[in-house]
Amino acid sequence: MDKVTPNGIHFQNFGSGEQAVVFIHGFIFDSELWLRQIPPLEDKYRVVVPDLRGFGASTDCDGMVTLESYADDILELVKELKLEKPVLAGLSMGGYVTLRVAEREPNLFRGLMLFDTRATADSNEAKIKRAAGIRIIKGGGLRTYTAALMDSIFYDTFKKNEPEEFQAFIDRGASLKPEGPIGALLAMMGRTDTSAFLERTDLPVMAVCGEHDALTPPAEMTEMMKNVKNGELHIIPDAGHGAPFEKPEECNALINDFLSRVF
Ligand code: MLT
Repeated sequence: MDKVTPNGIHFQNFGSGEQAVVFIHGFIFDSELWLRQIPPLEDKYRVVVPDLRGFGASTDCDGMVTLESYADDILELVKELKLEKPVLAGLSMGGYVTLRVAEREPNLFRGLMLFDTRATADSNEAKIKRAAGIRIIKGGGLRTYTAALMDSIFYDTFKKNEPEEFQAFIDRGASLKPEGPIGALLAMMGRTDTSAFLERTDLPVMAVCGEHDALTPPAEMTEMMKNVKNGELHIIPDAGHGAPFEKPEECNALINDFLSRVF
């Protein structure tokens, strides 16, 4: 059921278990990215799936967004719902938010799940690419921009086997108010590096990466996880940068196993 926090963050809430998991979507998605994780989890866990500001139903966004303001929104959600040490999970941009939220308030969480993401900040090249993206979107090219991004996110197998789902993601992204994606690009461009936190935290961290992830490839995620004290990395065959949606069975088995170990 769709609900909203006092500061305008819409979220869906499934299940009623004491043990909760919060899933944060990536760019240029919304809470629907996690649709395939909910059914196998909701009988046992409380599953909370927010729309970041500017995405999905969280339309209250003026485009002036920072990673810190996304983190504020997630922390408010966790406190508002009085979640008792949930596991925090995020994909790509959602992973950037997950890492920063956990860095700010590590004691509020039981563990982290990081899908197709990184802990480092943007390189100069990445910043310039984001600025070019903002230029395209401001010029009315959100559909073109979204289609190109989705094409690089999903691996060929998914695009071939599930063309309607692939097209639906493009259509949802293309129908957003431009302030949402522009704000996200600015936020990602200005985010901090959370690598030092990831290496010093005692929290259990499960990382998952699609074998063919072209945006945060296995080699980069292997490097990210190599010094994480309580860390583990799993590579999902035949998947791209959207592994949990592309290969739900494999990812859900890992998620279930991780949750049964940390709770
Ligand atoms: C995402 O999937 O959230 C984006 O690819 C992240 C990014 O652009 O850095």
